[in-house]
Amino acid sequence: MNTNMAINITDKLAATQQPVQDLIRKRWSPRASSSDGIATEDLQTILEAASWAASANNEQPWRYFYGKNGQSGFDTIFRTLMPGNQPWAKNAAVLLVSVARNTFAANGKPNPFAQHDVGMANAQLLLQAAALNIYGHAMGGFDKETLRQVLHLPEEQEPVCVIALGYKAPAEILEEPYLSRELAPRTRKPLTEISCEVTH
Ligand SMILES: Cc1cc2nc3c(=O)[nH]c(=O)nc-3n(C[C@H](O)[C@H](O)[C@H](O)COP(=O)(O)O)c2cc1C
Repeated sequence: MNTNMAINITDKLAATQQPVQDLIRKRWSPRASSSDGIATEDLQTILEAASWAASANNEQPWRYFYGKNGQSGFDTIFRTLMPGNQPWAKNAAVLLVSVARNTFAANGKPNPFAQHDVGMANAQLLLQAAALNIYGHAMGGFDKETLRQVLHLPEEQEPVCVIALGYKAPAEILEEPYLSRELAPRTRKPLTEISCEVTH
């Protein structure tokens, strides 16, 4: 059971220009994690949310592998993280590896949407976690080949990112440069830069 119920993840609420859903505003990627474990049923809920993402041909190319802090599986995944991620990710309750199956099961042909669809699932996973007051921090900084080997992945499966999951802890548990990053405001490009209406 989370003993940190007083701490929620609204402390870096996105300052949006439009009235987007609260959960989207709440989600962010902290690095300070408490030592509280995540209940099995909450982890299952988070994974189920991922499983309901849309995917090309309903292929559902996502696979998830996870290790709980204090167990050997956590260390197996942790050792593949880049040095810049290890100092803070060591406190995560769970390290979760998202993996893409890059071929269609029915005919073995390449699935060009596999990584996209794993991203879709990961987005849902992170929002469901936020709803449970659990935060996730995705990492691309890991040794992909080593992770592939230690997870015994077949050739058609590829690690996409590792997600550190946990309940939030005060930023002050972090050392620099992570403390400053934790306290920095969240920013986004303006809509005028990322979107335009096609008028021709
Ligand atoms: C695919 C992916 C890879 C990322 N890799 C790392 C990483 O290796 N280390 C890290 O500290 N953050 C990593 N991040 C987190 C981003 O830096 C973060 O999501 C971004 O700065 C936006 O911040 P926010 O999630 O708090 O809104 C990654 C995020 C994604 C989606």
